[in-house]
Amino acid sequence: MCGIVGYVGRPGAPGAAAGGGAAVALEGLRRLEYRGYDSAGIAVVSEGAVAVRKRAGKLANLVELLDADPLPAAHTAIGHTRWATHGGPTDANAHPHVDGTGRVAVIHNGIVENFAALRAELRESGVEFTSETDTEVVAHLLGAQLERTGDLTEAMRAVCLRLEGAFTLLAVHADAPGVIVGARRNSPLVVGLGEGANYLGSDVAAFIAHTREALELGQDQVVTITPDAVDVVGFDGAPAQGRRFHVDWDASAAEKGGFPSFMAKEIHDQPQAIADTLLGRTDAGGRLQLDEMKISEAELRAVDKIVVIACGTAAYAGQVAKYAIEHWCRIPVEVELAHEFRYRDPVVSERTLVVAISQSGETMDTIMAVRHAREQGAKVLAICNTNGSTIPRESDAALYTHAGPEIAVASTKAFLAQITACYLLGLYLAQLRGNKFADEVADVLAQLHEVPGQVRQVLDGLEQVREIARYMADTRSVLFLGRHVGYPVAMEGALKLKELAYIHAEGFAAGELKHGPIALVEPGQPVFVVVPSPRGRDSLHSKVVSNIQEVRARGARTLVIAEQGDTEVEPYADVVIRIPRTSTLLSPLLAVVPLQVFACELATAKGLDVDQPRNLAKSVTVE
Ligand code: G6P
Repeated sequence: MCGIVGYVGRPGAPGAAAGGGAAVALEGLRRLEYRGYDSAGIAVVSEGAVAVRKRAGKLANLVELLDADPLPAAHTAIGHTRWATHGGPTDANAHPHVDGTGRVAVIHNGIVENFAALRAELRESGVEFTSETDTEVVAHLLGAQLERTGDLTEAMRAVCLRLEGAFTLLAVHADAPGVIVGARRNSPLVVGLGEGANYLGSDVAAFIAHTREALELGQDQVVTITPDAVDVVGFDGAPAQGRRFHVDWDASAAEKGGFPSFMAKEIHDQPQAIADTLLGRTDAGGRLQLDEMKISEAELRAVDKIVVIACGTAAYAGQVAKYAIEHWCRIPVEVELAHEFRYRDPVVSERTLVVAISQSGETMDTIMAVRHAREQGAKVLAICNTNGSTIPRESDAALYTHAGPEIAVASTKAFLAQITACYLLGLYLAQLRGNKFADEVADVLAQLHEVPGQVRQVLDGLEQVREIARYMADTRSVLFLGRHVGYPVAMEGALKLKELAYIHAEGFAAGELKHGPIALVEPGQPVFVVVPSPRGRDSLHSKVVSNIQEVRARGARTLVIAEQGDTEVEPYADVVIRIPRTSTLLSPLLAVVPLQVFACELATAKGLDVDQPRNLAKSVTVE
């Protein structure tokens, strides 16, 4: 999830920004830094040439470079802050990228799914690449198209028709001062409308200091901006129009996309986080392939045990994944808190695959566990959201979640992306080891691709949960019950409530209730119950329905998360929260969402800072 800004101004026009293009782009990047910050760059068009400055690391590094080697004065500029997907966070991989002539420059947010095929094709025609990114492919394709047509808008349109995946692109050309062309598919792009100046941004935060009049682009559209005009066409060439709106947020609300907190925004962004994590994982024949999987196929076939190591929410993602991976691959999976792992002399060998899950890639407990596992001869695969961070760097292979930067301390969208990535790993292993036929893998993948839409449905139907949360602001204790994959979901629900609302909360395996926790239940005790699908195997559903009855009989107030159409829970539920039908193994991706929203809303009702809860840190870099 990168940040994108573009600016064209007519010098002296009322809306033209003082300081010129590079300054406007830099200021936009400062406001977008929350979207990604592992490298940054700016390109300007000046005197018939494109000039680029870019640097790995925080924006401050780019500022230093610009001080030492300023960009020429210009009124056409594009800028980018990067959150690496293809290729680590290096100077060479930073955007903008240029074609072989250096006359066209491109910035990009998203993932070009078919970049490997396009890259191979370009290589064959003699193109030399200077980065590992998918974006550079676009720069070269645009360069080639421009040679043919000479028109940047037409070239962009032609190139977009060749791209698969998700992308927002901005491009400038040396021969076209005062013009920026943008395009979008499955990734955001907004136009800022000024007087004698126009802007482009991944969101309105990029230009809110200059204008509050904006135009939202539709799917598969190309926009051409000059200081005095904004023209929109579809990828098919048909004239189109964006949706105009007035921005009445202040700058800090703009960063949060109008949500009251980063946490609320990140919960809302979860469908995108899952969809992006699924992007680009199959080859032309529909076969699952994990690019970053650098452990050999022979080694993966020989794996006889998987140990997942992680902390906090990431560890619950591992617990969910255990059910799926064991079921699909018939490999035993242990899930261990990273800080416990190396102190108990774990049994690992060269046939053990250790999977380290971490959003930040910098959690010291997990780093130490990775080192210990490798010392014991195990192969380590990192599932991580931060390209270039310590854990993937020190691992034998990495599978990146593409959730974009998570700013709120307590993890939400990274959790769903981690489960998704674990599932991709499980399916990949099942395919490789022959546990599943290709059509079975394709079937689960198709179900996974439906999950983003289903999460959106859950999010759209949670007004009742918000109301309950506000009403329960004075609650002192909440219990969460679940069984099978619902058990880690219950624990994650409890963790969210502890972290955000400072309320005593416990997640239990529903079957364990009778062995102790039921003693906690007294009249009025709120109990959330995550109910498995009645269409699932065995008698899981009826067992959990019995558990609801047991706590209800002792006076508990039951808040039941159940699949649409499950009427059996109704007699015993004070509140039923519905989630769409999906397979049992995928249901955690839906069932956890109401629990996240509940915790966030309740904490907000208590007046707490949900983005920075007391005593917690986003990335715990001490043991
Ligand atoms: C901290 C955060 C949690 C997170 C955990 C693991 O404790 O507060 O939200 O789940 O670290 O972080 P990681 O970056 O390794 O996923």
